[in-house]
Amino acid sequence: MFLLAQARKYFFNKQALVDHKIEEDMWTISAQPKSTSGLDTAPFPDELVQRCLDVGCSDNGVVLDPFLGSGTSIRVANLSGRSGVGIDLNRDFCEYAATTLLDDEKCT
Ligand SMILES: C[S@@+](CC[C@H](N)C(=O)[O-])C[C@H]1O[C@@H](n2cnc3c(N)ncnc32)[C@H](O)[C@@H]1O
Repeated sequence: MFLLAQARKYFFNKQALVDHKIEEDMWTISAQPKSTSGLDTAPFPDELVQRCLDVGCSDNGVVLDPFLGSGTSIRVANLSGRSGVGIDLNRDFCEYAATTLLDDEKCT
């Protein structure tokens, strides 16, 4: 996992790792199989997204995922109070993500 920033100054909340007793250099997160209605996707565990957001995105930040897939990153962003914008090359993924996110009343 690389956290990349273009600007010289950027948001980095190291305290989030300290608070949750998470090692900085090695993360162990259990796989979380999900059903994505037959779409050939590679969803990753919510916790992986959550850690990245807690460290690299302010509480009311906006998450841009240019590889939306099934929408895990945007869903986790929404559930933690952040806004999200997703883009995908494949219309099926856009429709799947939009439908599942819109079905979840906590997502925007
Ligand atoms: C592994 S999924 C991403 C998972 C996703 N970020 C999530 O949170 O669940 C990768 C997605 O990237 C999309 N993709 C691949 N190349 C792309 C491109 N050039 N532009 C936009 N989307 C692309 C694929 O269609 C696929 O849905």
